[in-house]
Amino acid sequence: MEWPRELRYRRIEEVAECEITDLKNRVDACSHRQTFHIQPTTGLLNDPNGFSFYNGEYHLFYQWFPLGPVHGVKYWYHTASKDLVNWENRGIALSPDCALDSHGVFSGTAIEHNGLLYLMYTGNTRDENWIRHPYQCLAVMNEAGEIKKYPEAVIKNVPKGITDNFRDPKVFKIEDKFYCIVGAEKMTDEGNKGTVVYYESSNLEEWTYKGEINTTFENNSGFMWECPDYFTLEGQGIMLMSPQGMAPEGDKYQNVFQSGYLVGEPINFETGIFNHGEFTELDRGFEFYAPQTMEDPKGRRILVGWLGLPELDCVTDESGWAHCLTLPRELTVKNNKLIQKPIEELKKLRHHRVEVKTTLNAESKKFMGFEGITYELQCRFTDLTQGRVGVKLRKSEQEETVFYYDIENKKLVLNREKSGKMCGEEYGSIRQCHFEANELRLQIFVDQSSVEIFVNDGEEVFTTRIFTKEESQGIEFFADSSVDLEATLWEIKK
Ligand code: FRU
Repeated sequence: MEWPRELRYRRIEEVAECEITDLKNRVDACSHRQTFHIQPTTGLLNDPNGFSFYNGEYHLFYQWFPLGPVHGVKYWYHTASKDLVNWENRGIALSPDCALDSHGVFSGTAIEHNGLLYLMYTGNTRDENWIRHPYQCLAVMNEAGEIKKYPEAVIKNVPKGITDNFRDPKVFKIEDKFYCIVGAEKMTDEGNKGTVVYYESSNLEEWTYKGEINTTFENNSGFMWECPDYFTLEGQGIMLMSPQGMAPEGDKYQNVFQSGYLVGEPINFETGIFNHGEFTELDRGFEFYAPQTMEDPKGRRILVGWLGLPELDCVTDESGWAHCLTLPRELTVKNNKLIQKPIEELKKLRHHRVEVKTTLNAESKKFMGFEGITYELQCRFTDLTQGRVGVKLRKSEQEETVFYYDIENKKLVLNREKSGKMCGEEYGSIRQCHFEANELRLQIFVDQSSVEIFVNDGEEVFTTRIFTKEESQGIEFFADSSVDLEATLWEIKK
């Protein structure tokens, strides 16, 4: 179906109830609906927004176009949870209903202040010539969950030298000052470049422009950095961003757009100087973008990403919905590298368990009870000598999703060539990255239509959607040489 502009900018409030019911019925009938991931009830989900802990609950909002699987006029949809595992849908939080956000309530973040949750976001507007005018806006949520928008934008102008791609404020507090970083496209003599600019405030309402964050990430760094985030972890400064326009380099940057981080000394917010190391991708898989983090009451830094990408069709489009969010990951830093582990609380999803301990003698093997559609699988391969060692998921005669370590070439490889229906085929169906280890430990979460693979306690993560047939449920372990294997599988039931 074509999605002309009139349809993309229709608001849900204008649509008859029966149209929504029909759409919802189509969505509910889709065999690829997830069981333990946050997904839209209808339409398209993109970036996580306003990830926070307030009034005894975690809050996680997301970018939402309710009326179909396309990027139409965006809302913030609200979900909340006591444990980061069981999420409750709370409905629309912010609607594109005023002059400051007529063409979408775009991404942003949340921060608690004076007993209220402040939501800062980009109001996207277009004029009669379809020229974009972005505003950085503020709203507040009280303990009853009521949300009120400020009538005026708190940042009205785009800074000098920046294009209309200026959005996605991330707000945080350092000592008694608030800072807000905003993703931007800056004009330079060598063409446009991605950057992050920042503001300072004492009350979240009046913001003073400070300038650019001065990074040295300049070569092949893209033309626009969306969804920046910043925090310190174990004394180091970490900036996340999603650059658009990076060219592939070897195994790296194979997706339409990237998402990664810089680690270094904490940013000096007097000068804007950030001394840091290389840009590193957060996820080595296929669909991952626009992640956002929060510090929770336990002091953990937790990340959630969009398990999707811009400009890509999705297999579920024909059923009237698209995309979901990743599982929450806890971040730590080791040797200037972010380590990402699935949060502890996900153990709550574990049900019936099966185990195996054996030696694989240059063979591919199935084990009793190792199969399914929604599960957590942990496995450990030791005594690695040569060839490949790994696992095939959602396997049948025709289908399989393969993950392995190529020992001599020191590469982790995810292959979804035979995962079923495809989307984004033009970007290839294999992802790999360099990896050195003496043993391979995998923690894998398989939902109805996604796979998240955490390698060696979060050293690398590979995330992908898969659109596999219901009957493809096999799990097969394989090794080209003799290796020892220990594996545990927990069924996930919700
Ligand atoms: C990233 C993004 C953001 C923007 C939002 C709009 O996916 O393009 O930059 O705020 O999506 O939905």
